[in-house]
Amino acid sequence: MTFVVTDACIKCKFMDCVEVCPVDCFYEGENMLVIDPEVCIDCGVCEPECPPEAIKPDTEPGLEKWLSLNAEYSKAWPNITQKGTPPADAKEWDGVEGKFEAHFSPNPGTGS
Ligand code: SF4
Ligand code: F3S
Repeated sequence: MTFVVTDACIKCKFMDCVEVCPVDCFYEGENMLVIDPEVCIDCGVCEPECPPEAIKPDTEPGLEKWLSLNAEYSKAWPNITQKGTPPADAKEWDGVEGKFEAHFSPNPGTGS
């Protein structure tokens, strides 16, 4: 079991999650983060830190797509352990539907 980042993170990218993770298992894409499922220890500390509630335990039904996306991109993107500056319009994207289809970027972030 692991926690996973879902599409609610896209273009919000608040990064409060990275500050609390005891095993530094967040990885940064251009406009979202993912968790490395092989490193996450399932502590659940990050889940309540995320304003758009993008982080879910993979025991919830229907999260297979996000689990495989987290596994794939945690191998491709740089590690991030410190909160950076969220996008200026982050709050406007909180709760917007269909962000994956319209806005997912496979490009890496800068990490920190
Ligand atoms: Fe890190 Fe714990 Fe969140 Fe896993 S559940 S990503 S170990 S804070
Ligand atoms: Fe994304 Fe939430 Fe972290 S918006 S960057 S999962 S705090």
